[in-house]
Amino acid sequence: MDFVIAGLIFSAAEALARAKAASTQVKCRLYKESPMDPIIAVKHVFKSVTDSTGTLTILRDIDFTLHARETVAIVGASGSGKSTLLSIIAGLDTPTQGTVLLAGRDIFALSEDARAHLRAQKVGFVFQSFQLLGNLTALENVMLPLELADRRDARQVATEMLARVGLAGRLNSYPKVLSGGEQQRVALARAFVVKPAVLLADEPTGSLDFATGDKVMELMFDLNRELGTTLVLVTHDRAIAARCTRSITIEAGSVVDSPT
Ligand SMILES: Nc1ncnc2c1ncn2[C@@H]1O[C@H](COP(=O)(O)OP(=O)(O)O)[C@@H](O)[C@H]1O
Ligand SMILES: [Mg+2]
Repeated sequence: MDFVIAGLIFSAAEALARAKAASTQVKCRLYKESPMDPIIAVKHVFKSVTDSTGTLTILRDIDFTLHARETVAIVGASGSGKSTLLSIIAGLDTPTQGTVLLAGRDIFALSEDARAHLRAQKVGFVFQSFQLLGNLTALENVMLPLELADRRDARQVATEMLARVGLAGRLNSYPKVLSGGEQQRVALARAFVVKPAVLLADEPTGSLDFATGDKVMELMFDLNRELGTTLVLVTHDRAIAARCTRSITIEAGSVVDSPT
């Protein structure tokens, strides 16, 4: 799975470098946000994969919109398509049909570079398996998205964010010496440090024991509230889903209840 985060970060880095070269072109197309517009619109998304044994339909006509500050749980059995949907919302995977609008922009109509640029500006991720870079300290992991955005105050802002998640004393620790709960708190700090409009979390407590998971979840909801982030949370825990303002249930690739 390491390639996912590596792919994410390196594609964002590359995109930023290239976007700078074409910065006027990218900037003048930036979307003007209005609180009335959905932050995410998933439009009739289908996803199929074909191999030598035939075609498997993973997602079927997924269609919903989310407004700023909503907290949404995507629930469903293992294998129902939740992670695939989250990857498509992030623009890391492509739909077979349909599209996704992020902050009003059709992400699949953009070039890969522009898509990575938009993602770096708007989206934070938290994964079940933390996905920290093992050769960087906690502080360096959290500084990374700020550095990619050319923030000169990266060190200070990342230090403050690590203090906010209770890790002021672990700035120079490498992930392998941190507990699972601590690693996930570093991952939360990294995801929230750029104040993303959208946070996508794929079973963020799935690798943690119940008590630790509960604390991480509490922290995630607190940060979400403080920063006004729209949260899309994949979980199969109904109690966690109940804490969100909305739930979307997926069964075999289809939404079975979707109050929009
Ligand atoms: N690239 C792929 N190729 C083939 N099958 C895939 C691929 N990605 C996902 N799947 C299959 O699609 C289904 C949904 O996967 P996933 O989105 O990971 O489900 P969930 O996150 O709900 O457990 C599973 O049956 C999985 O094996
Ligand atoms: Mg999954």
